[in-house]
Amino acid sequence: MTIPPELLRRLATAKRIAVLTGAGVSAESGVPTFRDAQTGLWAKYTPEELATPRAFRRNPRLVWEWYAWRRTLVADAKPNPGHLALAQMEKLFPQFDLITQNVDGLHQRAGSTRVIELHGNISRTKCFDEGAIVTSWEDTGDVPPKCPNCGGLLRPDVVWFEEPLPETEMERAATASTNCDVFFSIGTSTIVYPAAALPFEALCAGATVVEINPQPTPLTMLAQFNLPEAAGVALPVLMKALNASRKS
Ligand code: OAD
Repeated sequence: MTIPPELLRRLATAKRIAVLTGAGVSAESGVPTFRDAQTGLWAKYTPEELATPRAFRRNPRLVWEWYAWRRTLVADAKPNPGHLALAQMEKLFPQFDLITQNVDGLHQRAGSTRVIELHGNISRTKCFDEGAIVTSWEDTGDVPPKCPNCGGLLRPDVVWFEEPLPETEMERAATASTNCDVFFSIGTSTIVYPAAALPFEALCAGATVVEINPQPTPLTMLAQFNLPEAAGVALPVLMKALNASRKS
């Protein structure tokens, strides 16, 4: 694949970059996306049935064990060339914001430092009742374990359906999206709001929008540039072309 010369020209003068990533960026690390068919034990559930406060109240053990399964998947996963290329890209621009819907922490493990986690992080735990982050608790064998502070149930620090996104992160993401020269939308189906609004807000604010996704999304027809490729293929090629254009 080649990078459109006009995109390289725009990146050559760009100072402010914003990137939105979704589950597709971690697919090549073996982390299933949301809208893949689920494998194994959980084939019979949809994420919506497991990732809501109602589902947790109804069957806290089931939800806790689902996240425990996903935590092992994430713990065994490694950042892929797409994650690594984004960590390099961060160093090339004075302003760079990496907005992620992913809860796997793989961007940070790849070396990205400017990460805005919109949907939380699966490796963190918090109290269902108080909302406070909990880093250690007594292993009494309870599933889910109990909050050492109030005795309430513990849950993963991720955003569930029907829950609001963390305010500070959402504000930072909106500011980064409407104050950038180039906005990349990578590995997201662009259907889950409010995150899915960000590429359109960037477009309205006059940014150049680039989509990297092997499949079409609601953004595809509106983005100025489309790289219909896997992120782990397109991003290293883009980085190579960017570095070459900066040397010439
Ligand atoms: P989805 O599963 O909805 O979409 C993944 C997208 O990645 C699809 O458009 C795929 O075509 C694309 N894709 C797959 N493999 C790829 C690859 N190797 N490189 C690039 N793209 C690839 O995941 P998200 O858009 O992240 O929210 O889903 C958004 C939110 O919906 C999630 O954060 C989660 C979910 O419900 C919450 O749980 C709150």
